[in-house]
Amino acid sequence: MNKNIAIIGAQFGDESKGRVTHEFSKNYDFIIRYAGSLNCGHTIYVDGKKYAHHLVPCIDFKKSSARGFLGAGMVIDLSSLINELSALEIDFPGVSKRMIIDPDSFLITPEHIQQDKDNNKKIGTTQKGVGPAYVSKVDRKGLRLGDVLRTPSNEYYSLTKKLQKMGVQFKYCLELRSELQSSNIIFEGAQSVMLDINHGTYPFVTSSDCTVSGISSAGFGFIKLDEVYGICKAYNTRVGNGPFPTELYDEEAELLRQKGSEFGSTTGRPRRVGWMDLPAIRYAAVKGGITSLVIAKLDILNGQSQVPVCYAYDKEPVCGSDFFDAVPKYTYINGWNDAKDLNQIRHFIDFVEHQTNLPVKYVSCGTAPEDLLTL
Ligand code: IMP
Ligand code: MG
Repeated sequence: MNKNIAIIGAQFGDESKGRVTHEFSKNYDFIIRYAGSLNCGHTIYVDGKKYAHHLVPCIDFKKSSARGFLGAGMVIDLSSLINELSALEIDFPGVSKRMIIDPDSFLITPEHIQQDKDNNKKIGTTQKGVGPAYVSKVDRKGLRLGDVLRTPSNEYYSLTKKLQKMGVQFKYCLELRSELQSSNIIFEGAQSVMLDINHGTYPFVTSSDCTVSGISSAGFGFIKLDEVYGICKAYNTRVGNGPFPTELYDEEAELLRQKGSEFGSTTGRPRRVGWMDLPAIRYAAVKGGITSLVIAKLDILNGQSQVPVCYAYDKEPVCGSDFFDAVPKYTYINGWNDAKDLNQIRHFIDFVEHQTNLPVKYVSCGTAPEDLLTL
């Protein structure tokens, strides 16, 4: 087991980061969110029951020593966090006491949510106010949690008091420095390299830093990472607008969407679907600091005789705008009937490893804990 790891998206989000984080979390003390907000939906299963949370990190809810940290790079909707924690308290009493928020994070206000809804629909955002909250921050007009905590007359002060009553703590990451240095940590990424504000398919991106650099910019530069897992699916999806070189359409898309239950966990929107895109994964790996891969949802392709994989574009992408007019080239890999039989998927895994020059360390072939297999 590695001491400190990061789990980041190597496609367009929704790669099963939450599922992988939650499975790994049994062996970790801290699960830290460092960027993004409630725009993401991390879907996990505990004892067969489905939970889709947005702000709360994917800690092992059943392990009382596991803690979640919401880092300085995040923008936080306090009312939504209260609702999310209250719902989780029903099945996991005391979960709020295990949450710590960095007062250097910023708030999403109702005005930000309204602005996100009023903005033109070009990007297809989740309309949770995330972009406008980051705009306020960069414009030096943002509302910092720490300032609210110090100002009882602030209109959001009562929400911070409510969180405190529930047991949530407010602590700067440096106040936890020695504790963090003697802990095992997962940095749980949100969105993905392809949606990153700097390296994604701008302007069709989210507003935050989704690569490993988001970890140091949230104040964790003092923590050494032992491994950065890039998560991808055996196929590909995207919600919202923007380039998607391997996209499928019509009946073919509908079939894969239904098989993979590809509907947004935050907005319920049908996800756009397509085939695995290795040039995008290669790009995401280099830009994102990825050191090994995890491939999820291989079981969705069970029974397919051949699996199309894009192995190249007409030109290898070097920047986000190269994805707008990319012409994908496909190869067809022999399929499998049961992804859990590692002999059957070996050929596919070998191909991905060869093409990306990265080891594939785990595959996920279902939602149960035992369906995450070590290679
Ligand atoms: P925003 O993050 O709500 O501003 O949305 C910007 C773009 O990122 C839109 O295309 C969203 O659909 C996409 N996006 C944001 N969060 C996620 C996510 O967790 N998974 C997938 N797409 C996301
Ligand atoms: Mg998601």
